[in-house]
Amino acid sequence: MNPRATLADSKGGMQRLANLSRRDVLVRGAAAAGWGAFGLVLTTGIVESLNFLFPRVVFRPPSRFTIGPVQEFTGVGGTPDRYGVILVDQRWKSTERFFLVREQERIHAASARCTHLGCTVNWFEDMRTFKCPCHGSEYHSNGENFAGPAPRSLDRLRIELNAEGKIIVDTAIVYGPDRYGVDGAFVDV
Ligand code: FES
Repeated sequence: MNPRATLADSKGGMQRLANLSRRDVLVRGAAAAGWGAFGLVLTTGIVESLNFLFPRVVFRPPSRFTIGPVQEFTGVGGTPDRYGVILVDQRWKSTERFFLVREQERIHAASARCTHLGCTVNWFEDMRTFKCPCHGSEYHSNGENFAGPAPRSLDRLRIELNAEGKIIVDTAIVYGPDRYGVDGAFVDV
C-alpha cells in the first residue's frame, strides 16, 4: 500500500467532510428523522394488527355449576330450625365455596366466604352455626352474623333452575344481605 496515496485519500475525505454545508446536514438529519417516524408508525400498525388477529385470551375458571335436580332437595323432610333452615348441604364447600341451604319454601346458595377477610367458614350441624376458623366470626344457619369481627351476614350466590329442573349456581353473581329477596338470590320450592 502506498503511504502517500493513503494520506491523500484521507485528506480528500476530510476535505469532503468540511465541504458539507450546514444545509446538507440539516437535510440529511430531517430525512433520517422522517424514516425513523415512518418505521415507528409501520411497527405500531403491525403490532396492532397482530393484536386484532390474535387477541389475548384470559382464561377464567367456570363460575356456573349444575347442582342437580331440585327434587333432590325439595324431597328433604325435617323440621326447620329457629332460623327457618331445614338443611345445609356442604358438598360444594371445598371445591366451589358455597353451601346449598334448604329453607321451608326456598333454596338459596350461601357463600362460604367469611365477610370479614374471606376465609372459608365451616358448618357445625349440632350448633346450627357457621364458624370462621380465622378470627372467630359466627353465623346462624340463615347466614346472619352474630359473633366475631364479620361486618355482615354471609353473601348469597345466584341460583336458578334450568329447563330440565336442575339447580344452577353461579358463583360470579353475589347478593349481599340487602338483596336476599331479589329474583336470582333464591329459588322457590
Ligand atoms: Fe373470618 Fe376473619 S376472616 S373472622
